[in-house]
Amino acid sequence: MLALGAVVATGLHPSRAEERPDPAADLRAFQAHFRDRFPQLPIAEFANGPYAMDAGMRQQWEEIMQFPPYDFAVEEGKQAFETPFANGKRYADCFPEGGTGIRQTFPYFDTAAGEVVTLDLAINRCRERNGEKPLPYQTGLMASITAYMAETSRGKPFDIRIPDDKRALAAYEDGKRFFYSRRGQLNFSCASCHVQAAGQRLRGDVLAPALGILASFPIYRSEWGSMGTVDRRFTSCSAQTRSEPFAPQDPGYRNLEYFLSYMSNGVPIAGPGTRP
Ligand code: HEC
Repeated sequence: MLALGAVVATGLHPSRAEERPDPAADLRAFQAHFRDRFPQLPIAEFANGPYAMDAGMRQQWEEIMQFPPYDFAVEEGKQAFETPFANGKRYADCFPEGGTGIRQTFPYFDTAAGEVVTLDLAINRCRERNGEKPLPYQTGLMASITAYMAETSRGKPFDIRIPDDKRALAAYEDGKRFFYSRRGQLNFSCASCHVQAAGQRLRGDVLAPALGILASFPIYRSEWGSMGTVDRRFTSCSAQTRSEPFAPQDPGYRNLEYFLSYMSNGVPIAGPGTRP
C-alpha cells in the first residue's frame, strides 16, 4: 500500500520564487529520476503507463489489444476529420501537415496569443473559426478526433518546446507548481501518486508514472465504459486529491498539460490507449 507520508526523492522540486525557471534542467532531473527508479524500462515503455509496471496487467492488456476497444473511436474520428464543415473547409486546413502526424507537438505555446494551446483547444478553435459549435471536452467526438490524430502520430516522440519568452516560462512554472502542490483534505499532490508512488498499487489500480503519462491519450477506460480525454482524466484525478476540479481547458489544466508533456519529451506517442 501507499506510504505517502514518507519524504521520498521526487526527481525535482518546485522552484523557489527567486530562481529563474530552467525547464531543460528540470527535464534532465525528472527523467533521471525515473531511469534510476526503473532501470530496466526503456523510455518508450513509459507510454504504456500501468502496463509497463506490472506483468499481470500487461498480459490482460495484450489480450484486450486483440480487439482494441478504442477502434470505434478512431473510425468515428477519422470520418469526422475528413468530413467538410458546412463552409466547405476541413480540420486539415487548420493544422500544419494537414493535421497528420502532429500530436507530439501539442501543447505548444502560442507566442502571439501568449497562452498554451492544447490539441483539444485547437480543434474547437478550428471549428469555431469555421462556424461550427465547439465540442464538449471530456468524451464523445472530441475524444474520437484526438484518437484519430494520435493514431496518425504513433511512435513520434513528444517534441514540446518552451520558447524563451517570459509568459511561456510562467505557464510552465504554473503547471509545475500545480503538479507538486499538496491540496485537498488528503494533502496529496499529483506527484504523491504519480512520482513517489509510481508503480505501486492503489485499490485495484497500478499507479502510472508521471513520465509519459499523457502519451496514450485519449484512452478507453473500462471503468468509464467509454473514451476520455486529458480533461476527463485531470478532472477525475483532481477528485483523487479531493479538491475542486477546474473547468476543462482552464489555463490551469493547459499549463499542467504543458509541463507534463514537456517532461515527457522523447517518449513516443502511443495513443489512443486502453486502460482498466
Ligand atoms: C491518490 C492518488 C492519486 C493522485 C493524488 C492523483 N492521481 Fe492520477 N491517477 C490515480 C489513479 C488510481 C489512476 C488510474 C491508474 C493509473 O493509470 O495510474 C490515475 C491516472 C492518472 C492519469 C492517466 C494515466 C494513464 O496511463 O492512463 C493521469 C494523466 C493522471 N492520473 C494525472 C493526475 C494529475 C494531473 C494529478 C494531480 C491533479 C493526479 N493524477 C493525482 C491516482 C492519483
